[in-house]
Amino acid sequence: MSTRPITVCGAAGGIGQPLSLLLKQSDLITDLALFDIVNAPGVAADLSHINTRSTVTGYGKDEMDAALKDAHTVVIPAGVPRKPGMTRDDLFKINAGIIRDLAEGVARNCPDAFVLVISNPVNSTVPIVSEVLKKYNVYNPKKVFGVSTLDVVRASRFISEVDSNINPKSTRVTVVGGHSGVTIVPLLSQIPGQKFTEEQVKALTHRIQYGGDEVVKAKAGAGSATLSMAYAGARFTNVVLEASVNGKTGIVESTYVNLLADAESTKAFHAKTGLDYFAQDVEFGPEGVAKILPLPAVSDHEQGLLDEAYTELKANIEKGTKFITEPE
Ligand code: NAD
Ligand code: LMR
Repeated sequence: MSTRPITVCGAAGGIGQPLSLLLKQSDLITDLALFDIVNAPGVAADLSHINTRSTVTGYGKDEMDAALKDAHTVVIPAGVPRKPGMTRDDLFKINAGIIRDLAEGVARNCPDAFVLVISNPVNSTVPIVSEVLKKYNVYNPKKVFGVSTLDVVRASRFISEVDSNINPKSTRVTVVGGHSGVTIVPLLSQIPGQKFTEEQVKALTHRIQYGGDEVVKAKAGAGSATLSMAYAGARFTNVVLEASVNGKTGIVESTYVNLLADAESTKAFHAKTGLDYFAQDVEFGPEGVAKILPLPAVSDHEQGLLDEAYTELKANIEKGTKFITEPE
């Protein structure tokens, strides 16, 4: 059990509220700190009546430092979501500054915290967090994650809709790359015993890559995925806590990380692609990333998807990095 706070930034939002509700149910958390620029004390008061062990405290607009003080883990779903017709990259203009300010708060108040970034565009917001922490000399690439779990959750669900023998709860799909459109690369060839036709693979791949758009379209201007994201965010937070607080070993989950988190195993991949960040299956340990697992042998179709992903990822990473290293 963590004796230090688990802080949710953006806790009163569409993701923040259900995510905090799910985290309130964790026995690994004793202190849940909710920060938002609006309504965090109200959400905290509400959740604090639930009969689990953790205490819940809300922090308003001017209380970011107090909310982050000595945090063990910081989960960040703060910022604006998409509307129909927008790409995730369109959110950069607003969300980049929000993430930079929160990362500075982390550097000042909890420099050794695990930082779990949900806010989009994840491909760029994770480099922003890394560069801020580097500026403060507190960067540990093993502890900064882009939460791409929703892609994995969707992949498990969508394949089970095509093959009813698949149990979506117990079938994990490796999804690599990043978290937007063509950068999301599901490796369906790796599912043991799968017999999808070429057509099914193409349709499933497209649905997993653009699952976010399905929700944005259905919500028709009222935002993007919140409930499935809260589920995915809680699942990923629990992975980090199980490994770091509970000492559980061998847990594998896909996440978007700086390849420096395991420079030795990713050296050849980095040399080949020039990428600094990539979502890949990661084995977790007490200090975060224990190992970045190697990319498995992929199909020709998947290799084509990967090549396309590399180009866009590189641009997304550069944009996030330069926002801090070369501010306008
Ligand atoms: P939302 O607008 O419902 O909630 C965002 C919350 O952030 C609001 O309560 C707002 O007050 C708060 N906020 C804004 N600026 C803040 C700041 N400086 N400090 C603290 N809190 C601040 O949006 P949402 O639907 O919860 O989505 C949040 C983000 O998550 C979006 O960027 C969205 O694109 C992203 N998202 C990511 C994934 C993923 O898979 N990684 C999935 C869904 C959504
Ligand atoms: C998602 O995948 O649902 C999120 O990244 C939100 C979005 O903008 O699609």
